[in-house]
This record gives sequence, structure tokens and C-alpha cells, in this order.
Amino acid sequence: MDLHALEPEDFDREVRSFEFWLDAVRDYLPTADGLELPPDDVAPEDREPLITVLSSYCVGEMMALEGAGGLIRSAPNRSSKIFLSTQTVDEGRHLEVLTNRMTELGVEDVDAEIRRRANPYLLEFRERLLDLIAQGRWQQALFVQNVLLESMEFAAFCHHIQLADARTRAILEGIVKDERRHMGFGENELGRLIAEDPGLRDDLSHLRQEFDYLALGSFEHALTELRIPAAEHPTLKRGYLAAVKRLGFA
Ligand SMILES: [Fe+2]
Ligand SMILES: [Fe+2]
Repeated sequence: MDLHALEPEDFDREVRSFEFWLDAVRDYLPTADGLELPPDDVAPEDREPLITVLSSYCVGEMMALEGAGGLIRSAPNRSSKIFLSTQTVDEGRHLEVLTNRMTELGVEDVDAEIRRRANPYLLEFRERLLDLIAQGRWQQALFVQNVLLESMEFAAFCHHIQLADARTRAILEGIVKDERRHMGFGENELGRLIAEDPGLRDDLSHLRQEFDYLALGSFEHALTELRIPAAEHPTLKRGYLAAVKRLGFA
């Protein structure tokens, strides 16, 4: 099928469908025993910092899993609900492969480890996102989840891919493919809503200030925990700001 020959409504229905999703995810992100991944070559001194980073990713993915599932109820139409159901599965897969990676690195109680290392800014971000979802504020919650949270994850993963051991890199590359789809959905849906109601852009900008503080704070916290020199911190933050901008939110 030539997707681009479809009318907008048919296009949306097609790219948000389970059929489309199955095709997109068929060949990556092994979840069971990691047989398709490169062998583990993490240096002993890199193990601890990697576990700290993976713990943060797990908090983010757990939030995305709860967020995507929670958004289904307030999504205004069938194609959005179906898309969010595929996103929910994606986020569950991400959480699973990342926790499996922690187990491979020798973490015995993954949940306790994630709690112990949790980034307070990310926990606050989660509380506020889940509040928006509980209030049924579709546009605002979708913006925070599929633009801001996805941009944070995208920036962190893309940055980490350049430095990671081969096995972790292969996992992150699979995850990033999914996050691109999630960002595309947010961009497309919010772009249409803003075209119908230009005032929405100001409303979202206002909300963004609140969440940018938490997003940038969480990066700062994580980089400090990892003892990364302050001079290198702006790179990751710029990655996040650039990702949000590419989605149409300057
Ligand atoms: Fe994810
Ligand atoms: Fe995602």
C-alpha cells in the first residue's frame, strides 16, 4: 500500500493501527534471552554508572507505560486509542529489556535498586504527568507525555548510544525507533489541535516551563551523580531542547 496516496483520515487510521505496529517492530528489541544482542563487554569500572543510568531509564519507561495506558481513556477517537495501545506495549517492552539488562549486570533486586537510585526530578515529573492524565486533560497530558517526556528519552538515549558498550547500544537503538513513532504521533495530533485552536499553543508553552524545569533538573541530577564534568552537561540539555523544537515547539 502506498501510504502517501491515502486521504488524511485513512492515513491516520493506517499508521496508528496494530497491523502497522506489528510490521514496524517485528525485527528488533529482543526481550527473552538477548541472544540476538552482541556479547557483554562492559568494563568493570563502567558497571556501576551504567546501572545508575539504566535505573533512571526504567523510571522514565515506567512513567511512559503508565502514561500511555492512562491516556487511552481521554483520547478523543478510535485511531488515537489504538495507537496508544501499541505505545503502551512498546513502553512495556522497553521497561522489560532495560530491567533485563540490569539483571545481566548482576543486580539482584531490580525494583529496590531503581527505588534507591531514583532521580527526584523524574519522580516529580511522573506525579505531575499522572495528575494531568487523571484530570482527563488530553491535550496537556499528550503534550507532556509524547512531546516532552519522549524528547527527554530520545535525547538521553541518542547521547548514550554514542558512548555505550555494544550490547547496551543495540538495546537503545531498538528503543529509539519506537520513541520516534511516539514523537510522530504527538507532533501530528497536537499540530492538528493547534491549527483548530491557536490559543492552545500559549497554554502548552506555559505548561512547558514547569516541565522543562523538571526535565533539565533531572539531567543535571543524573550527570552530577555520574560525576560527569559540568562543561559536558549542556550537550544533553541541548539535545532535549532541540528535540522539542523539531516537534514544532520553539
Ligand atoms: Fe519508551
Ligand atoms: Fe515512548
